[in-house]
This record gives sequence, structure tokens and C-alpha cells, in this order.
Amino acid sequence: MIKKGIILAAGNGTRLKPLTNFTNKHFLNLYDKPVIFYSLSTLMLANIRNILIVTNKKDLNILQTFFGNGKRLGLNISYAIQKLNTGIPTAIKSGEKFIGNSPICIILGDNFFYGAGLQNRLINFSKLKNGSKIILYPVKNPELYGVANLSSKKRILKIKEKVKNSKSNLAVTGLYFFDKSLLNMIKKLKKSKRNEFEIVDILNQYLKKKKLNYELLGRGSTWFDVGTPELLDEASDFIKSTQKRNGYKIACLEEISYEKGWIKKKHLLEAEKIYKNSAYSKYIKTIK
Ligand code: DAU
Repeated sequence: MIKKGIILAAGNGTRLKPLTNFTNKHFLNLYDKPVIFYSLSTLMLANIRNILIVTNKKDLNILQTFFGNGKRLGLNISYAIQKLNTGIPTAIKSGEKFIGNSPICIILGDNFFYGAGLQNRLINFSKLKNGSKIILYPVKNPELYGVANLSSKKRILKIKEKVKNSKSNLAVTGLYFFDKSLLNMIKKLKKSKRNEFEIVDILNQYLKKKKLNYELLGRGSTWFDVGTPELLDEASDFIKSTQKRNGYKIACLEEISYEKGWIKKKHLLEAEKIYKNSAYSKYIKTIK
């Protein structure tokens, strides 16, 4: 059972400039909550409570001030700084001490998952014992993502990063489950043509060892990464209309934690005060 998770919330968010000239991508609004609430909620739904947030030095204080040690959310949150800007594997390596000799779930802080039965599926994914698991999602613009090419027997042949004219439409989402060999794999990486270490090269190492598995998120689910203004906007629209229709808030951290029995009513009352007179605070008031 994977019990530790890392949220990668560093990087420069270059495709979102000038928005990210003023703030970290993960603090921008995804409709009515900061982007990072959604990736954090995904880890929580997977029953992962021991969480490391990797971020940039300048943003650490903001995160720490808000989330603290995570106790009020029933979590154990710690922090690490990514010092070098050499890609996602470098961000993961910043969590070396936290990972230790444990299997780990990694989520890119700008990812958003939603769908029926998602919670149970996430809990199942985190039961991983050996190798690694990735989540694939069909998209119309695979050139924006890491993509998995499958054989006729639906086995993964290769994972490629942002290729033009990809034959496959299956994007590799930013949610990864790794066994304890991850750090060794990272040590073996070489820089790509983009002069970065690539997450897909880690996945291809697992693939070579026949230890890369996948799950498909199908039509009943939604996945976004919100790396561009258009995607941020589209995902916001989705959240707005879904919440408006059924009245439930997506990624209300306190609600998830309370439902799981990690926090008590007194913590909800505390949260109401933190969020002042917002709709989020009023929503927390309705949680029973
Ligand atoms: O969202 C899925 C895609 O994410 C995958 O399909 C790709 O294989 C993967 O490379 C990644 O592509 P992006 O172009 O979306 O990566 P981006 O640079 O936007 O970074 C994604 C997240 O990872 C972002 O929330 C910040 C974090 N990150 C990224 C880098 C490069 C870090 O924390 N540190 C980093 O150095």
C-alpha cells in the first residue's frame, strides 16, 4: 500500500505568463479554489495522508503559512525546495529524503481528475506492490503531453514526450505510482534533447524491465492539466458547471478529510473561520 505522496508544485509555468510572473501556477484560481487544492484532493482520495509538497524557494512561505503541517486537514504535510530547473525528475529528487525506501505516488500539481468511482480506483492504484502504474486518458491533442503507444494486445510499447503527429491519442496523465526503485531509476537518467531530465525516461526504464502498468480513464472520467490559459479556463468552466448542477464542491479538502474520519466537527468550525464569509466557508457549514 502506498502511503506517501508528493505534489510537484515548482517550475516556472512559462506557458501561463504573464499570470505566472506574479504568482506560482499552483496558486492561480481553478474556478473557486487554488490549482493545488485539486491535486492535493486526489492524493487524499487515494487515502494518502503523508504528503510532501515540492516547490520553489520563493513560494515556500505562502504554502507553509496556509497548509502548515497539515494537521487541521488530518494530514502530515512537509515541504522541499527544488533548486535546479532541470525537469520533473529533478523535482522528484528534491524529495529524496522523504521518499527513503518507500513506494511513492507522485502527482503533478497542475493536474485535475474527476469522475464516477474515482475514489475507489485511486485506492486500488495505491495498492501497487511492484513496478509502476500510470494513468492514461484519451485526448484530441496528444502533442501537448507524454503519450503511450500500445500494441494490438494493448501492451505499452513506448512512452514518448510531446511528439508531433502521434499515432496514439492516449496521454500519460500526471499521476504516477512507483515502487521503491524510483530513486535508482532517476540516478540513471540522461538529459534529453530539450536539455532536461524527462519523466517519460523514468517510465521507459520501468517499461524495459516489464514493470510499467497502466489504467485507462475512460469516458466517465475527466482529466485536465491546466498548463495553459485555455486549459485553465476550460477546467474552470467544467468545475463551475458541475458544482452548479449538483451543489457539491469538487476538491473541498475539509469535506474529504471529514468524510474519511480524519478530522472532527471542531476542525470544520475552525475551517469556516479561516475561509471567512466565502462560498467555500458556507459550504463547509453544510457538511454533516
Ligand atoms: O500533465 C501531464 C503531462 O505533464 C505529461 O503528459 C507529460 O509527460 C509531462 O512531462 C508533463 O508535461 P507538461 O508540459 O505539462 O509539464 P510542465 O512543465 O507543465 O510541469 C508539470 C507540473 O510539474 C507542474 O505543475 C509543475 C511541476 N514541475 C515541473 C517542472 C518542469 C515541477 O515541480 N518542477 C519542474 O522542474
